Amino acid sequence: MTTNNFPKGFLWGGATAANQLEGAYQAGGKGLSLPDVLPGGKDRMAIINEPDFDFTIDPQRVYPNHVGIDHYHHFKEDIKLFGEMGFKCYRFSIAWSRIFPQGDEETPNEAGLKFYDAVIDECLKYQIEPVITISHYELPVHLIKEYGGWKNKKLIACYERFARTVLDQYHAKVKYWMTFNEINSAAHFPIMSQGLTVSNGAKDKKNIYQAWHNQFVASSKAVKIGHELDPKLQIGCMILYATTYSFDANPKNQLATLQDNQANNFFCADVQVRGHYPAYTKSLLARNGVKLSDLDYTADELDLLAQYPVDYIGFSYYMSSVVDVTNEDQDRVAGNLMGGVKNPFLESSDWGWQIDPTGLRIALNELYDRYEKPLFIVENGLGALDQPDENNFVADDYRIDYLRQHIEAISAAIDDGTEVMGYTPWGCIDLVSASTGEMSKRYGFIYVDEDDAGHGTFNRYKKKSFAWYKQVIASNGEEI
Ligand code: BG6
Repeated sequence: MTTNNFPKGFLWGGATAANQLEGAYQAGGKGLSLPDVLPGGKDRMAIINEPDFDFTIDPQRVYPNHVGIDHYHHFKEDIKLFGEMGFKCYRFSIAWSRIFPQGDEETPNEAGLKFYDAVIDECLKYQIEPVITISHYELPVHLIKEYGGWKNKKLIACYERFARTVLDQYHAKVKYWMTFNEINSAAHFPIMSQGLTVSNGAKDKKNIYQAWHNQFVASSKAVKIGHELDPKLQIGCMILYATTYSFDANPKNQLATLQDNQANNFFCADVQVRGHYPAYTKSLLARNGVKLSDLDYTADELDLLAQYPVDYIGFSYYMSSVVDVTNEDQDRVAGNLMGGVKNPFLESSDWGWQIDPTGLRIALNELYDRYEKPLFIVENGLGALDQPDENNFVADDYRIDYLRQHIEAISAAIDDGTEVMGYTPWGCIDLVSASTGEMSKRYGFIYVDEDDAGHGTFNRYKKKSFAWYKQVIASNGEEI
Protein backbone atom coordinates (compact mmCIF):
# COMPACT_ATOMS: atom_id res chain seq x y z
CA MET A 1 0.00 0.00 0.00
CA THR A 2 1.08 3.62 -0.38
CA THR A 3 1.32 5.81 2.64
CA ASN A 4 1.73 9.20 1.00
CA ASN A 5 -1.27 10.78 2.70
CA PHE A 6 0.29 12.05 5.94
CA PRO A 7 -0.59 15.74 6.25
CA LYS A 8 2.07 18.42 6.09
CA GLY A 9 3.23 19.23 9.61
CA PHE A 10 2.39 15.75 10.92
CA LEU A 11 4.04 15.44 14.33
CA TRP A 12 6.42 12.49 14.05
CA GLY A 13 8.39 11.94 17.22
CA GLY A 14 8.82 9.78 20.28
CA ALA A 15 7.51 9.58 23.84
CA THR A 16 8.89 9.10 27.34
CA ALA A 17 7.95 9.85 30.95
CA ALA A 18 10.15 11.56 33.54
CA ASN A 19 10.04 8.77 36.12
CA GLN A 20 11.02 6.10 33.59
CA LEU A 21 14.13 7.76 32.23
CA GLU A 22 15.44 10.67 34.28
CA GLY A 23 16.80 8.81 37.32
CA ALA A 24 18.58 11.24 39.70
CA TYR A 25 15.62 10.73 41.97
CA GLN A 26 16.87 13.07 44.68
CA ALA A 27 18.89 15.54 42.61
CA GLY A 28 18.13 19.26 42.63
CA GLY A 29 15.80 18.98 45.60
CA LYS A 30 13.42 16.44 44.02
CA GLY A 31 10.99 14.75 46.40
CA LEU A 32 9.88 11.12 46.28
CA SER A 33 7.30 10.22 43.69
CA LEU A 34 5.17 7.10 43.43
CA PRO A 35 7.46 5.14 41.05
CA ASP A 36 10.36 5.79 43.45
CA VAL A 37 8.69 3.43 45.93
CA LEU A 38 7.79 0.73 43.40
CA PRO A 39 10.38 -2.05 43.29
CA GLY A 40 11.56 -3.61 40.01
CA GLY A 41 10.60 -7.04 38.75
CA LYS A 42 7.71 -8.87 37.16
CA ASP A 43 5.86 -8.91 40.48
CA ARG A 44 6.18 -5.13 40.91
CA MET A 45 2.43 -4.58 40.79
CA ALA A 46 1.72 -7.25 43.41
CA ILE A 47 2.52 -4.55 45.91
CA ILE A 48 -0.83 -2.93 45.27
CA ASN A 49 -2.57 -5.86 46.97
CA GLU A 50 -0.42 -5.75 50.10
CA PRO A 51 -2.76 -4.51 52.84
CA ASP A 52 0.07 -2.80 54.73
CA PHE A 53 1.99 -1.26 51.81
CA ASP A 54 2.94 2.19 53.09
CA PHE A 55 4.71 3.77 50.07
CA THR A 56 8.18 3.60 51.59
CA ILE A 57 11.48 2.32 50.25
CA ASP A 58 12.54 -1.16 51.39
CA PRO A 59 16.38 -1.23 51.49
CA GLN A 60 16.33 -4.95 50.55
CA ARG A 61 14.77 -4.28 47.15
CA VAL A 62 15.91 -2.75 43.84
CA TYR A 63 14.25 0.47 42.62
CA PRO A 64 15.00 0.96 38.90
CA ASN A 65 13.27 4.34 38.66
CA HIS A 66 15.89 5.81 41.03
CA VAL A 67 18.43 5.46 38.24
CA GLY A 68 16.23 5.42 35.12
CA ILE A 69 18.64 5.73 32.21
CA ASP A 70 20.21 8.73 33.92
CA HIS A 71 18.65 11.02 31.34
CA TYR A 72 18.92 13.79 33.95
CA HIS A 73 22.63 13.89 33.17
CA HIS A 74 22.39 12.70 29.54
CA PHE A 75 19.47 14.73 28.18
CA LYS A 76 21.61 16.79 25.80
CA GLU A 77 23.08 13.65 24.23
CA ASP A 78 19.63 12.00 24.05
CA ILE A 79 17.84 14.95 22.49
CA LYS A 80 20.68 15.34 20.00
CA LEU A 81 19.97 11.78 18.88
CA PHE A 82 16.25 12.58 18.58
CA GLY A 83 17.27 15.57 16.45
CA GLU A 84 19.40 13.32 14.28
CA MET A 85 16.35 11.11 13.66
CA GLY A 86 14.53 14.24 12.57
CA PHE A 87 11.90 14.25 15.33
CA LYS A 88 9.30 16.94 14.76
CA CYS A 89 8.15 16.61 18.36
CA TYR A 90 9.17 14.97 21.61
CA ARG A 91 6.62 13.96 24.23
CA PHE A 92 7.94 13.92 27.79
CA SER A 93 6.51 14.58 31.23
CA ILE A 94 7.40 16.88 34.07
CA ALA A 95 8.08 15.13 37.37
CA TRP A 96 5.69 16.88 39.76
CA SER A 97 8.10 16.13 42.62
CA ARG A 98 10.92 18.08 40.93
CA ILE A 99 8.75 21.20 40.86
CA PHE A 100 6.88 20.66 44.14
CA PRO A 101 8.89 18.03 46.06
CA GLN A 102 6.06 17.26 48.48
CA GLY A 103 3.28 18.26 46.10
CA ASP A 104 1.55 20.74 48.40
CA GLU A 105 4.10 23.55 48.84
CA GLU A 106 3.17 27.14 48.05
CA THR A 107 6.26 27.91 46.00
CA PRO A 108 8.03 25.85 43.36
CA ASN A 109 11.53 24.45 43.44
CA GLU A 110 13.60 26.62 41.11
CA ALA A 111 16.14 23.88 40.36
CA GLY A 112 13.34 21.71 38.97
CA LEU A 113 12.01 24.50 36.77
CA LYS A 114 15.51 25.18 35.50
CA PHE A 115 15.98 21.56 34.51
CA TYR A 116 12.90 21.50 32.26
CA ASP A 117 13.80 24.89 30.81
CA ALA A 118 17.06 23.31 29.73
CA VAL A 119 15.29 20.23 28.30
CA ILE A 120 12.86 22.41 26.33
CA ASP A 121 15.64 24.66 25.03
CA GLU A 122 17.55 21.61 23.89
CA CYS A 123 14.50 20.42 21.93
CA LEU A 124 14.02 23.82 20.31
CA LYS A 125 17.68 23.84 19.27
CA TYR A 126 16.81 20.93 16.92
CA GLN A 127 13.40 22.35 15.89
CA ILE A 128 11.71 19.67 17.96
CA GLU A 129 8.30 20.73 19.27
CA PRO A 130 7.98 19.76 22.98
CA VAL A 131 4.75 17.91 23.91
CA ILE A 132 4.34 17.87 27.68
CA THR A 133 2.34 15.50 29.85
CA ILE A 134 1.72 17.40 33.08
CA SER A 135 1.18 14.26 35.16
CA HIS A 136 2.43 10.85 34.02
CA TYR A 137 2.16 8.27 36.81
CA GLU A 138 4.31 10.55 39.03
CA LEU A 139 2.23 11.57 42.02
CA PRO A 140 4.42 12.90 44.86
CA VAL A 141 4.43 10.27 47.63
CA HIS A 142 3.57 12.89 50.24
CA LEU A 143 0.23 13.52 48.51
CA ILE A 144 -0.58 9.84 48.88
CA LYS A 145 0.55 9.48 52.47
CA GLU A 146 -0.88 12.75 53.74
CA TYR A 147 -4.11 12.98 51.72
CA GLY A 148 -4.75 9.45 50.45
CA GLY A 149 -4.17 10.21 46.76
CA TRP A 150 -6.66 11.55 44.22
CA LYS A 151 -9.78 10.49 46.13
CA ASN A 152 -9.14 13.58 48.26
CA LYS A 153 -10.43 16.84 46.76
CA LYS A 154 -7.47 18.72 48.26
CA LEU A 155 -5.37 17.37 45.43
CA ILE A 156 -7.26 19.54 42.95
CA ALA A 157 -5.69 22.69 44.40
CA CYS A 158 -2.24 21.07 44.53
CA TYR A 159 -2.49 20.05 40.87
CA GLU A 160 -3.85 23.46 39.90
CA ARG A 161 -0.80 25.12 41.47
CA PHE A 162 1.52 22.68 39.72
CA ALA A 163 -0.22 23.10 36.35
CA ARG A 164 -0.31 26.90 36.67
CA THR A 165 3.38 26.97 37.52
CA VAL A 166 4.52 24.91 34.55
CA LEU A 167 2.07 26.46 32.08
CA ASP A 168 3.19 29.93 33.21
CA GLN A 169 6.82 29.03 32.98
CA TYR A 170 6.83 27.24 29.61
CA HIS A 171 3.77 28.29 27.58
CA ALA A 172 5.76 30.65 25.37
CA LYS A 173 7.90 27.72 24.21
CA VAL A 174 5.47 24.80 24.42
CA LYS A 175 2.19 24.62 22.49
CA TYR A 176 1.10 20.99 23.09
CA TRP A 177 0.11 19.67 26.53
CA MET A 178 -1.74 16.74 28.08
CA THR A 179 -3.25 16.85 31.55
CA PHE A 180 -3.05 13.24 32.83
CA ASN A 181 -1.42 10.18 31.30
CA GLU A 182 -3.80 7.24 30.70
CA ILE A 183 -6.34 8.65 33.11
CA ASN A 184 -8.69 5.70 32.42
CA SER A 185 -6.10 3.09 33.47
CA ALA A 186 -7.40 3.49 37.03
CA ALA A 187 -10.24 1.17 36.06
CA HIS A 188 -7.68 -1.62 36.48
CA PHE A 189 -4.66 -0.08 38.19
CA PRO A 190 -5.68 2.90 40.32
CA ILE A 191 -2.21 3.03 41.84
CA MET A 192 -0.45 4.59 38.87
CA SER A 193 -2.65 7.58 38.14
CA GLN A 194 -4.62 7.95 41.37
CA GLY A 195 -2.23 6.73 44.09
CA LEU A 196 -4.76 4.18 45.33
CA THR A 197 -3.88 0.67 46.50
CA VAL A 198 -5.62 -1.87 48.69
CA SER A 199 -3.89 -0.23 51.66
CA ASN A 200 -5.64 3.11 51.08
CA GLY A 201 -8.98 2.27 49.57
CA ALA A 202 -8.63 0.96 46.02
CA LYS A 203 -11.03 -1.89 46.68
CA ASP A 204 -13.89 0.53 47.25
CA LYS A 205 -14.84 1.57 43.70
CA LYS A 206 -16.41 4.75 45.03
CA ASN A 207 -12.89 6.05 45.67
CA ILE A 208 -11.87 5.45 42.07
CA TYR A 209 -14.87 7.37 40.69
CA GLN A 210 -14.36 10.17 43.20
CA ALA A 211 -10.68 10.35 42.23
CA TRP A 212 -11.64 10.52 38.56
CA HIS A 213 -14.08 13.32 39.22
CA ASN A 214 -11.38 15.25 41.06
CA GLN A 215 -8.99 14.68 38.18
CA PHE A 216 -11.57 15.80 35.60
CA VAL A 217 -12.00 19.04 37.54
CA ALA A 218 -8.22 19.46 37.81
CA SER A 219 -7.86 18.79 34.08
CA SER A 220 -10.45 21.45 33.20
CA LYS A 221 -8.67 23.90 35.47
CA ALA A 222 -5.45 23.27 33.55
CA VAL A 223 -7.27 23.85 30.23
CA LYS A 224 -8.68 27.11 31.61
CA ILE A 225 -5.28 28.32 32.83
CA GLY A 226 -3.61 27.35 29.55
CA HIS A 227 -6.19 29.01 27.33
CA GLU A 228 -6.15 32.17 29.41
CA LEU A 229 -2.39 32.35 28.98
CA ASP A 230 -2.64 31.72 25.24
CA PRO A 231 -5.74 30.58 23.35
CA LYS A 232 -3.51 28.88 20.81
CA LEU A 233 -2.25 26.30 23.32
CA GLN A 234 -3.50 22.79 22.56
CA ILE A 235 -4.32 20.88 25.71
CA GLY A 236 -5.41 17.28 25.38
CA CYS A 237 -6.54 14.38 27.48
CA MET A 238 -4.62 11.11 27.31
CA ILE A 239 -6.33 7.76 27.47
CA LEU A 240 -5.25 4.17 27.20
CA TYR A 241 -7.18 2.71 24.24
CA ALA A 242 -7.45 -1.02 23.66
CA THR A 243 -9.80 -1.74 20.77
CA THR A 244 -12.24 -4.25 22.20
CA TYR A 245 -13.90 -7.07 20.27
CA SER A 246 -16.66 -9.42 21.21
CA PHE A 247 -15.43 -13.02 21.02
CA ASP A 248 -18.47 -13.99 18.94
CA ALA A 249 -21.92 -12.90 17.78
CA ASN A 250 -23.61 -14.03 20.98
CA PRO A 251 -25.69 -10.98 22.03
CA LYS A 252 -24.54 -11.54 25.62
CA ASN A 253 -20.96 -10.98 24.51
CA GLN A 254 -21.94 -8.05 22.30
CA LEU A 255 -23.64 -6.32 25.23
CA ALA A 256 -20.71 -7.07 27.53
CA THR A 257 -18.35 -5.61 24.91
CA LEU A 258 -20.41 -2.43 24.69
CA GLN A 259 -20.32 -2.08 28.47
CA ASP A 260 -16.62 -2.90 28.57
CA ASN A 261 -15.98 -0.12 26.06
CA GLN A 262 -17.99 2.35 28.11
CA ALA A 263 -16.18 1.41 31.31
CA ASN A 264 -12.64 1.11 30.01
CA ASN A 265 -12.16 3.02 26.78
CA PHE A 266 -14.72 5.81 26.76
CA PHE A 267 -15.85 6.96 30.21
CA CYS A 268 -13.00 9.38 30.96
CA ALA A 269 -12.72 10.72 27.42
CA ASP A 270 -16.49 11.19 27.26
CA VAL A 271 -16.25 13.58 30.21
CA GLN A 272 -13.03 15.31 29.21
CA VAL A 273 -13.90 15.74 25.53
CA ARG A 274 -17.65 16.37 25.63
CA GLY A 275 -17.57 18.28 28.92
CA HIS A 276 -20.26 16.31 30.70
CA TYR A 277 -20.88 12.91 32.21
CA PRO A 278 -22.31 10.47 29.65
CA ALA A 279 -25.90 9.20 29.87
CA TYR A 280 -24.71 5.74 30.91
CA THR A 281 -22.89 7.05 34.02
CA LYS A 282 -25.54 5.97 36.51
CA SER A 283 -25.74 2.43 35.15
CA LEU A 284 -21.93 2.14 34.92
CA LEU A 285 -21.61 3.23 38.52
CA ALA A 286 -24.34 0.82 39.56
CA ARG A 287 -22.51 -2.07 37.87
CA ASN A 288 -19.60 -1.15 40.15
CA GLY A 289 -21.71 -0.89 43.27
CA VAL A 290 -21.48 2.92 43.41
CA LYS A 291 -24.34 5.42 43.69
CA LEU A 292 -24.13 8.95 42.29
CA SER A 293 -25.13 10.22 45.72
CA ASP A 294 -21.96 8.58 47.12
CA LEU A 295 -19.85 11.08 45.19
CA ASP A 296 -18.87 14.58 46.19
CA TYR A 297 -19.40 16.99 43.29
CA THR A 298 -20.83 20.48 42.88
CA ALA A 299 -22.77 22.35 40.20
CA ASP A 300 -19.80 24.73 39.80
CA GLU A 301 -17.51 21.81 39.07
CA LEU A 302 -19.89 20.44 36.45
CA ASP A 303 -19.98 23.92 34.87
CA LEU A 304 -16.20 23.98 34.75
CA LEU A 305 -16.14 20.60 32.96
CA ALA A 306 -18.62 21.94 30.41
CA GLN A 307 -16.68 25.16 29.82
CA TYR A 308 -13.22 23.68 29.54
CA PRO A 309 -13.15 20.42 27.60
CA VAL A 310 -9.87 19.30 26.03
CA ASP A 311 -8.72 20.37 22.56
CA TYR A 312 -7.59 16.98 21.28
CA ILE A 313 -7.48 13.32 22.22
CA GLY A 314 -4.09 11.86 23.00
CA PHE A 315 -4.09 8.10 23.37
CA SER A 316 -1.83 5.11 23.73
CA TYR A 317 -2.42 2.04 21.62
CA TYR A 318 -0.45 -1.18 22.04
CA MET A 319 -2.95 -3.98 21.64
CA SER A 320 -6.58 -4.99 21.32
CA SER A 321 -8.67 -6.98 23.73
CA VAL A 322 -11.43 -9.61 23.52
CA VAL A 323 -14.51 -10.04 25.71
CA ASP A 324 -16.24 -13.36 26.37
CA VAL A 325 -18.58 -13.56 29.33
CA THR A 326 -20.07 -16.87 28.26
CA ASN A 327 -17.09 -19.17 28.78
CA GLU A 328 -14.94 -18.98 31.89
CA ASP A 329 -12.46 -21.51 30.52
CA GLN A 330 -11.13 -19.27 27.75
CA ASP A 331 -7.33 -18.74 27.64
CA ARG A 332 -6.49 -15.33 28.94
CA VAL A 333 -3.66 -12.99 27.96
CA ALA A 334 -1.55 -10.27 29.54
CA GLY A 335 -1.78 -6.66 28.51
CA ASN A 336 -0.95 -3.08 29.33
CA LEU A 337 -2.74 -2.96 32.62
CA MET A 338 -5.71 -4.85 31.19
CA GLY A 339 -5.76 -8.35 29.76
CA GLY A 340 -8.69 -10.17 28.19
CA VAL A 341 -9.43 -13.37 26.32
CA LYS A 342 -6.90 -14.71 23.83
CA ASN A 343 -7.60 -13.69 20.23
CA PRO A 344 -6.86 -16.70 17.99
CA PHE A 345 -6.12 -14.44 15.01
CA LEU A 346 -3.29 -12.47 16.65
CA GLU A 347 0.31 -12.99 17.66
CA SER A 348 1.67 -11.70 20.95
CA SER A 349 4.78 -9.82 22.05
CA ASP A 350 7.41 -11.38 24.37
CA TRP A 351 5.28 -10.01 27.22
CA GLY A 352 2.04 -11.49 25.90
CA TRP A 353 0.50 -8.27 24.51
CA GLN A 354 -1.56 -9.09 21.41
CA ILE A 355 -0.26 -7.30 18.31
CA ASP A 356 -3.05 -5.82 16.20
CA PRO A 357 -2.33 -3.00 13.71
CA THR A 358 -5.84 -3.18 12.27
CA GLY A 359 -7.07 -2.51 15.79
CA LEU A 360 -5.33 0.88 15.59
CA ARG A 361 -7.22 1.75 12.40
CA ILE A 362 -10.43 0.76 14.18
CA ALA A 363 -9.46 2.80 17.26
CA LEU A 364 -8.87 5.92 15.17
CA ASN A 365 -12.24 5.48 13.46
CA GLU A 366 -14.10 4.79 16.71
CA LEU A 367 -12.58 7.81 18.44
CA TYR A 368 -13.06 10.18 15.51
CA ASP A 369 -16.65 9.06 14.88
CA ARG A 370 -17.46 9.63 18.53
CA TYR A 371 -15.69 12.92 19.20
CA GLU A 372 -14.79 14.60 15.88
CA LYS A 373 -11.69 16.09 17.48
CA PRO A 374 -8.05 15.73 16.38
CA LEU A 375 -6.36 12.50 17.48
CA PHE A 376 -2.76 12.18 18.61
CA ILE A 377 -1.25 8.70 18.96
CA VAL A 378 1.14 9.49 21.77
CA GLU A 379 2.21 5.91 22.56
CA ASN A 380 2.60 2.76 20.51
CA GLY A 381 5.43 0.26 20.25
CA LEU A 382 6.85 -3.16 20.85
CA GLY A 383 8.44 -4.10 24.16
CA ALA A 384 10.99 -6.75 23.21
CA LEU A 385 14.12 -8.54 24.39
CA ASP A 386 16.87 -6.96 22.28
CA GLN A 387 20.17 -8.81 21.77
CA PRO A 388 23.06 -6.48 20.87
CA ASP A 389 25.92 -8.01 18.84
CA GLU A 390 29.63 -7.62 19.72
CA ASN A 391 29.48 -4.03 18.37
CA ASN A 392 26.45 -3.22 20.49
CA PHE A 393 24.25 -3.14 17.40
CA VAL A 394 20.67 -4.40 17.68
CA ALA A 395 19.10 -5.62 14.43
CA ASP A 396 15.53 -5.04 15.57
CA ASP A 397 13.66 -5.97 12.38
CA TYR A 398 10.75 -7.19 14.54
CA ARG A 399 10.31 -3.66 15.90
CA ILE A 400 10.50 -2.15 12.43
CA ASP A 401 7.82 -4.62 11.26
CA TYR A 402 5.57 -3.74 14.18
CA LEU A 403 5.89 0.00 13.66
CA ARG A 404 5.58 -0.24 9.87
CA GLN A 405 2.30 -2.11 10.17
CA HIS A 406 0.96 0.42 12.63
CA ILE A 407 2.00 3.35 10.43
CA GLU A 408 0.18 1.66 7.52
CA ALA A 409 -2.89 1.40 9.74
CA ILE A 410 -2.69 5.13 10.56
CA SER A 411 -2.42 5.93 6.89
CA ALA A 412 -5.49 3.79 6.16
CA ALA A 413 -7.39 5.57 8.94
CA ILE A 414 -6.44 8.94 7.47
CA ASP A 415 -7.94 7.72 4.19
CA ASP A 416 -11.03 6.73 6.18
CA GLY A 417 -11.38 10.43 7.01
CA THR A 418 -9.96 10.61 10.53
CA GLU A 419 -7.87 13.59 11.61
CA VAL A 420 -4.54 12.49 13.06
CA MET A 421 -2.09 15.08 14.43
CA GLY A 422 0.93 12.94 15.08
CA TYR A 423 2.59 9.74 16.15
CA THR A 424 5.08 9.37 18.99
CA PRO A 425 6.21 5.75 19.51
CA TRP A 426 6.74 4.88 23.15
CA GLY A 427 10.16 4.69 24.75
CA CYS A 428 11.98 6.14 21.73
CA ILE A 429 15.07 5.54 23.84
CA ASP A 430 15.13 2.41 26.06
CA LEU A 431 13.78 3.17 29.53
CA VAL A 432 12.39 1.48 32.63
CA SER A 433 9.12 -0.40 32.08
CA ALA A 434 6.14 1.04 33.94
CA SER A 435 4.45 -2.29 34.64
CA THR A 436 7.47 -4.44 35.49
CA GLY A 437 10.29 -2.02 36.26
CA GLU A 438 12.52 -3.97 33.86
CA MET A 439 15.14 -2.44 31.55
CA SER A 440 15.09 -5.62 29.49
CA LYS A 441 11.63 -4.75 28.14
CA ARG A 442 12.92 -2.39 25.49
CA TYR A 443 11.01 -0.18 23.05
CA GLY A 444 13.68 2.22 21.81
CA PHE A 445 15.35 3.21 18.57
CA ILE A 446 18.33 3.79 20.86
CA TYR A 447 19.82 1.02 22.98
CA VAL A 448 20.97 1.93 26.49
CA ASP A 449 23.60 -0.36 27.99
CA GLU A 450 22.03 -1.05 31.37
CA ASP A 451 20.56 -4.13 33.02
CA ASP A 452 17.50 -4.69 35.21
CA ALA A 453 19.48 -3.92 38.35
CA GLY A 454 20.57 -0.54 36.95
CA HIS A 455 24.14 -1.62 36.15
CA GLY A 456 25.94 -0.85 32.89
CA THR A 457 27.94 1.80 31.07
CA PHE A 458 24.80 3.82 30.22
CA ASN A 459 26.26 4.25 26.75
CA ARG A 460 23.73 4.91 23.98
CA TYR A 461 23.81 2.92 20.69
CA LYS A 462 21.65 3.34 17.57
CA LYS A 463 19.57 0.27 16.72
CA LYS A 464 18.67 -0.70 13.15
CA SER A 465 15.27 0.95 13.67
CA PHE A 466 17.02 4.30 14.24
CA ALA A 467 17.95 4.74 10.56
CA TRP A 468 14.61 3.26 9.47
CA TYR A 469 12.58 5.75 11.53
CA LYS A 470 14.77 8.62 10.35
CA GLN A 471 13.79 7.77 6.79
CA VAL A 472 10.11 7.43 7.72
CA ILE A 473 10.16 10.96 9.13
CA ALA A 474 12.23 12.44 6.29
CA SER A 475 9.73 11.06 3.74
CA ASN A 476 6.72 12.13 5.87
CA GLY A 477 5.63 8.50 6.20
CA GLU A 478 6.03 7.54 2.56
CA GLU A 479 9.12 5.36 2.85
CA ILE A 480 8.35 2.80 5.47
C1 BG6 B 1 1.71 2.96 28.99
C2 BG6 B 1 2.31 3.98 29.91
O1 BG6 B 1 0.76 2.22 29.70
O2 BG6 B 1 2.48 1.95 28.50
C3 BG6 B 1 3.83 4.05 29.90
O3 BG6 B 1 1.80 5.27 29.67
C4 BG6 B 1 4.37 2.64 29.80
O4 BG6 B 1 4.26 4.72 31.04
C5 BG6 B 1 3.89 2.03 28.48
O5 BG6 B 1 5.74 2.54 29.93
C6 BG6 B 1 4.43 0.65 28.21
O6 BG6 B 1 4.18 -0.18 29.31
P1 BG6 B 1 5.36 -1.01 29.98
O7 BG6 B 1 4.72 -1.62 31.14
O8 BG6 B 1 5.80 -1.97 28.95
O9 BG6 B 1 6.42 -0.03 30.34
